[in-house]
Amino acid sequence: MAPSGGWRPSGRGAAFGPGHHLQTERLVLRRWHEDDRDAFAALNADPLVMEHFPEPLTRERSDLMLDAIDTALEEDGFGIWAVEELRSGALIGFAGLAKVSFLAHFTPAVEVGWRLTPGAWGQGFATEAAAAALDYGFTTIRLAEVVSFTTTTNGRSIAVMERLAMTHDPAEDFNHPQIAGSNPLSRHVLYRISAERWRGGGGRAARRRLSRGSGPRR
Ligand SMILES: CC(C)(COP(=O)(O)OP(=O)(O)OC[C@H]1O[C@@H](n2cnc3c(N)ncnc32)[C@H](O)[C@@H]1OP(=O)(O)O)[C@@H](O)C(=O)NCCC(=O)NCCS
Repeated sequence: MAPSGGWRPSGRGAAFGPGHHLQTERLVLRRWHEDDRDAFAALNADPLVMEHFPEPLTRERSDLMLDAIDTALEEDGFGIWAVEELRSGALIGFAGLAKVSFLAHFTPAVEVGWRLTPGAWGQGFATEAAAAALDYGFTTIRLAEVVSFTTTTNGRSIAVMERLAMTHDPAEDFNHPQIAGSNPLSRHVLYRISAERWRGGGGRAARRRLSRGSGPRR
C-alpha cells in the first residue's frame, strides 16, 4: 500500500455504500473515522505487531497509510476496512482487500491482508474478518483470484492463510521488491485462492461465522 494524500473522512453516520460495511458473527468491517487515527497509529507502532515488517511506522507514515486506505476504499468500493468487535465496539485492527502496489511475478493481483492488536490475537478474529473480505471479493466484486503474502518467518499470518484454504506453491515464493535482498524479511511466501475454490467450499471452517449477517449493509 503506497502512501498517498487526499484524506476524505467518512465520518460517523456517513451513508455507507456497497462494500463499506460488512458484518460477521462477532465483527464489523467498516469505513474509517477521523478519530481512529490514534488507535491505527498505536497498532502500527507496536513492535510485536510489526515484528515481521522492516520497522514500526511513525505517526506521520501511519497517517499517510490511512489516507491511502481511505482513498482506495472510496475509489474501488473495496479495500482495507477497520475491524471492530461487535460485543465491545472496540477497534481491534484492520483486514480487507488491496490491489498489490508493487510489481512481481503474480501481479496485477488483489491481496487479502490483516493486522490486529495483540490483545485480539488467538480468538479467530483475523480469519473471520478475512473470510468476510474474501467472500465480498468473490461474491460482490467478482474477483477471479485473491493472493496473500508475508515473510517466511510470520507463522501466525501463514496459519491464517491456511485456515482460509489458500494454497501455497513454494516455487512462487519471492523476494519483496521494496525490502533489501540482504534483509531476512525480504523472502516472502505467496498464497492464492480462486473464486472457484472459495465457492466450492474452500475455507469452510473459516466461513462458518459468516452465516449471520455477512455481506454489505447499506
Ligand atoms: C497475523 C495475525 C492477524 C494472526 O492473528 P491470530 O490471532 O493468530 O489469528 P486468528 O485471529 O485467525 O486466530 C486463530 C487462533 O485463535 C484460536 N481461537 C480461539 N478461539 C477461537 C474461535 N472462537 N474461533 C476461531 N479460532 C479461535 C485458534 O485456535 C488459533 O489459535 P492458535 O494461534 O493457538 O492456533 C496477528 O498475529 C497479527 O496481527 N500479526 C501482526 C500483523 C501481521 O503480521 N499481519 C500480517 C502481515 S502479512
